[in-house]
Amino acid sequence: MTTTSLRASTGLSRRVASAAVPPISDLMHRALAQPHLISLAAGFVDQQSLPVAEIAAAAAALVADGELARAALQYGTTLGHAPLREYVLDDVLSGDRQTRAASGLSSERVVLTAGSNQLLHLVTECLCDPGDIVLCAAPTYFVYLGLLAGIGVRGVGVAADEDGLIPEAVEEELARRASVGEARRVKAVYAVSYFDNPSSATLSLERRGRLLDVVQRWSRDAGQPLYILEDAAYREMRYDVDDLPSIRSFDETGDTVVYAGTFSKSFSPGLRVGWGIVPPMLVAPVCHFKGHIDFGSAHFNQALMARAIEMGFYRPHIDTLRTVYRGKLAVMLSACERHLGKVSGVRWRVPHGGLYVWLTLDEGIDAGPDGTLFDLAVKEGMLYVPGEFSYAADGVAAKKNTIRLSFGVQTPERIEAGVAALAKAIAQTQHSAP
Ligand SMILES: Cc1ncc(COP(=O)(O)O)c(C=O)c1O
Repeated sequence: MTTTSLRASTGLSRRVASAAVPPISDLMHRALAQPHLISLAAGFVDQQSLPVAEIAAAAAALVADGELARAALQYGTTLGHAPLREYVLDDVLSGDRQTRAASGLSSERVVLTAGSNQLLHLVTECLCDPGDIVLCAAPTYFVYLGLLAGIGVRGVGVAADEDGLIPEAVEEELARRASVGEARRVKAVYAVSYFDNPSSATLSLERRGRLLDVVQRWSRDAGQPLYILEDAAYREMRYDVDDLPSIRSFDETGDTVVYAGTFSKSFSPGLRVGWGIVPPMLVAPVCHFKGHIDFGSAHFNQALMARAIEMGFYRPHIDTLRTVYRGKLAVMLSACERHLGKVSGVRWRVPHGGLYVWLTLDEGIDAGPDGTLFDLAVKEGMLYVPGEFSYAADGVAAKKNTIRLSFGVQTPERIEAGVAALAKAIAQTQHSAP
């Protein structure tokens, strides 16, 4: 059905009728329709280590005090639960080895949202008109690409490698846009700065300052603000490396970087508590826009999260998760070694955190949803995310011979079996090649 006929028959808005169906929803349908399939596709977290006892204790403590319970069950503010905003700010600053005084930050710059996805959405809507541009790594978080497409904003893929987004490539793309009269259309650079989804790359320390420099220089020269949207969703999910200071921590005036964080990966995605540390001039627009949408995300969940932190559950839980995921990652890497190590053209990045292993196959293999490998893999009993979903329509061309595997949700046995099934499917494409 065309967009026009869909609109005519349903009364849908132009924007919704033309929004693409999220690619992942088709994958999820396939997974649900065939429950025996081993899904290494979904970015869900480990089920067994979800903090059930901690939440039970925190909820009991929260509702034990009638007055606090009633306050938590009431609407909150648009910015969100004040004690949690204070905690978030101190936690990010302590990771960045900064004081409040040195950073110039206060909790008035912290806004709590329904997951960090909502923060990304709010900020992007505040900055971009239809036709505007956001530069992103190629590949990048495909949900964000879908968000951009849904509001008519153009994502443009910029070269990235194992050290993340390449600042010189950002600079070149900015110059290219200027040369075609689109300088004023570029509004932000989106960077997943820790253990990227899907590529697992972390932006190197040295590139953090340089990227900020490129963006701030461009802003000055172009005479209009260009922002960095720093998505730190996986910051706490590191397994064998030290933390790095955020890009935000290099932003001395605090005017350039929007920092998005979340408790989804480090505690529970079901609570959907995320946040942003927002430049001063964006606080009011983001709050006004959020005010029109929901005038505050679930207050009870924020109060519950704050209580879990006060009771000392959060940091130890992160330590537990690191042990769990370190183990699962090792299982996936040794399965890759065992089943894919000798397959011609297959290579993968060894992650130091996050939930994903990024595979590159032989150039001739199309791992996309319409290629031969995807159906063969489903027949063999496994599901993966085609890497091509993670490339913006514009900029660096999609690499169809790429795959994202997730080790978050499956058991070690199923991770092993899933990778073995993938290897069988790849072998069949190689046999069937002309
Ligand atoms: C890179 C990245 N950013 C943001 C999110 C959103 O997380 P949430 O909205 O649950 O905070 C995810 C979730 O998978 C992600 O992978």
